[in-house]
Amino acid sequence: MKNISWGILGTGSIAAKFATALQSVEGCSLTAVASRSDSRAKEFADRFKAEKAYGSYEELAGDQDIDVIYIAVPHTEHKNTAALCIQNNKAVLCEKPFTLNVKDSEYLINLAREHKVFLMEAMWTKLLPANLRVKHWIDDGRIGKVLHIKASFGFHADFDINSRLYNPALGGGALLDVGVYPISYATFLLGKMPDNIVSRAIIGKSQVDEQNVIILQYKDNVLADLSSSISAEIGNDALIVGEKGIIKVERFWMASSARLYDNKYQCLDTFDEPFRANGYEYEAEEVNRCLREGLLESPFNPLNVTLDNMKIMDEIRAKWGLIYPQEQFTKSS
Ligand SMILES: NC(=O)c1ccc[n+]([C@@H]2O[C@H](COP(=O)([O-])OP(=O)(O)OC[C@H]3O[C@@H](n4cnc5c(N)ncnc54)[C@H](OP(=O)(O)O)[C@@H]3O)[C@@H](O)[C@H]2O)c1
Repeated sequence: MKNISWGILGTGSIAAKFATALQSVEGCSLTAVASRSDSRAKEFADRFKAEKAYGSYEELAGDQDIDVIYIAVPHTEHKNTAALCIQNNKAVLCEKPFTLNVKDSEYLINLAREHKVFLMEAMWTKLLPANLRVKHWIDDGRIGKVLHIKASFGFHADFDINSRLYNPALGGGALLDVGVYPISYATFLLGKMPDNIVSRAIIGKSQVDEQNVIILQYKDNVLADLSSSISAEIGNDALIVGEKGIIKVERFWMASSARLYDNKYQCLDTFDEPFRANGYEYEAEEVNRCLREGLLESPFNPLNVTLDNMKIMDEIRAKWGLIYPQEQFTKSS
C-alpha cells in the first residue's frame, strides 16, 4: 500500500483535530505543516510529530515529498491557498465551506481539472459511517419516499468582531460556517436540487447572518426545513420523515448513531458505532483511497455536489443581500 504524505496548511483548531485523526489512519503520515509564522509551524509540527515545519504556505506547496494538502484556514483564504497547492500539482482536501461563493468554487474546480489533481471539500459529515447508514436506509426504501427533512446546526458564540465567526472580512456568519452542514445533508440524502428557496436571516451588527432559517422546496412535494446559528443554541439534530417511517440523527453533522422508526415511532433499526478517532479519520481515509486509485474526485463527495451546495448558499445570500467585502471588490473590478 502506497504511503500517502500529508501536509497541513494552517495551524488553528480544525488543523489540530485533523492532525489527531490522521494519527489513527493507516498507510499515511503527516509529513509537513505550514503556518504564516515559523514558531507556530514548529510548535504544531512538534505536537503532531510532523517531519517538517514551514513558516510559509508557499514552501509547503512546493515540497516534492507531499502528496496531498489539507487546507485549514478561514473560508476567505480557501480559494488562494487551494489554488497555490493545485498549481504546485498537489492534491487538495479543502475545508468547508469550499469557497465564499460559486464563482470561486468553479475557479478551483477548473484549476484542479486543468492540472489533473485530486480535489475534495472536507464535508466529513457525508463520510461518517452513521450517515452512510442513514443514506443506505433511505436508498433501500426503509422509510419509503422522503417527504420532509428537518435539520439544524447552531450554537452560541459571544460576539467578537475579531473572530472568524463574526468578522465579515473572514467570511463570518452562520450560513457559511454551519448552515453548509444542513444544506449539504439535505442534498446528500435527497440527491437533488430544490426548485424553490425561501429564507430569512438576522443580520447582526457586524453585517453577517447570526441566525437563519431556510426552506428548500423540491419537486414531488418534498420540503427541507433547515436552520443555523452562531448566536443561539438551536439544536443539532436531523429528522428525516418518509411515507413509511422516520430516521432520527442526533448531532447529525458529527453523528455516530442513528435510529430508524416506523410511522408509529416503533424503533426498527439502530446504528451505533463510536469513531475510531474523532470522526475526521473517515474523510482522510477516503482521500487516501482516491489517491491510491488515481481518482481526481471522490465518488462519495463529488465536486458537482459541492458546487450545487454553493449555488444554494449563493442564492440564499442574494435573497438577504449579504455580500462579503471580497465580493464587493470583485464586482467593481
Ligand atoms: N470540519 C469541521 O468540523 C470544521 C470545524 C471547524 C472549522 N472548520 C473550517 O476550517 C476552517 C478553519 O477554521 P478554524 O476553526 O480552524 O479556524 P482558526 O482556529 O481560526 O484557524 C485558522 C488558521 O488559519 C490560518 N490563517 C490563515 N490566514 C488567516 C487569517 N487571515 N486570519 C486568521 N487565520 C488565518 C491561521 O494559521 P497560521 O497563522 O498558523 O497560518 C489560523 O490558525 C474554516 O473554513 C472552518 O469553516 C471546519
